[in-house]
Amino acid sequence: MSHVLETAKKRRSIRKYLDIPVEWDKVVQILDAGRYAPAAGNLQSWKIVVVTDPGQKRQLAEACLKQYWIEEASIILVICAKEERMVSYYGERGRQYLIQGVAAMAENMLLTATDLGVGSCWVGAFDEEKVAEAVGCPSRARPHMLITLGYSDEVVPVPPRETFESRVYLGKYNNRVKNFNIVLWDWSLQMQETAQESKAKAQKMWNKMSEKIKHHKEKIKEKMKKKGVDTK
Ligand SMILES: Cc1cc2nc3c(=O)[nH]c(=O)nc-3n(C[C@H](O)[C@H](O)[C@H](O)COP(=O)(O)O)c2cc1C
Repeated sequence: MSHVLETAKKRRSIRKYLDIPVEWDKVVQILDAGRYAPAAGNLQSWKIVVVTDPGQKRQLAEACLKQYWIEEASIILVICAKEERMVSYYGERGRQYLIQGVAAMAENMLLTATDLGVGSCWVGAFDEEKVAEAVGCPSRARPHMLITLGYSDEVVPVPPRETFESRVYLGKYNNRVKNFNIVLWDWSLQMQETAQESKAKAQKMWNKMSEKIKHHKEKIKEKMKKKGVDTK
C-alpha cells in the first residue's frame, strides 16, 4: 500500500495531549509540508501564526466556542489567508481557490504530523473576530482554521467512513461501481495478481492431470500386453 495512503488512514483527530512539547524540528517539517501544497496560480496567499503562549492558547480555546481541550496542545497553528489578491486575480472564484488552497495546505501538515508521530486536529469552529484578536491578525487577512499539535494522550478508533462505491462514481454521477480496480482491469495490479495466482493453480492442476493420464495410459498398456495385444 502507498505510504501516503497508509498515513492518511492512520491520521486521527487528536483532542487529548500529553504534557510533552513537540520538538521544533518536527514543527518546522510540518510547516514546510504546508508550504509545498498546491496553490491556485501559485499565489500562496496564506500566513501561519505559531502559538505557544499559554495565555494566547486559553484565548484561542475561548474563541473556539470554548473548546478548552485546545489549550492542552503543545502548539497551535492559526492559518490565515488574504482574499484580496486572490479576488483581484480570479474574481469571485478566487474566494473558492483560497479556501481550497488553505485546505490542501492543512491536509499536507496533518499528514506530515501523523508521519512524524505527532497528534493533530483541524479546528474550524470559532469566532473569527476573537481568533483574529488573539493573534493580531489584520483585517486584510482572515483566520481560516486552527491546527493543534501535540503528543497524543488517547487512542481514537477510526470514525466510520462511507463505502467507496457510495462516494465514487465512474464517468457519470450516480454510476456506482464495485471493485473499481477490477472493472478497469487493464491497469489493475490486483487483476495481475489474480491472473498470476490462477496461472499457478492451472499449472498445478495440469501437472496433476498429466501425471494421472500418464499413469492410466501405462496401466492400459500393461493390461493389453498381458492379453497379448500389440500396443506399439
Ligand atoms: C472543516 C473542518 C472543521 C473542523 N472543526 C473541528 C472543530 O472545531 N473541533 C473539533 O474537535 N474537530 C473539528 N474537525 C475535525 C473533525 O471533527 C474530524 O475530522 C472528523 O470527526 C473525522 O475524524 P478524524 O479526523 O479522526 O478522521 C474539523 C474538521 C474539518 C475538516
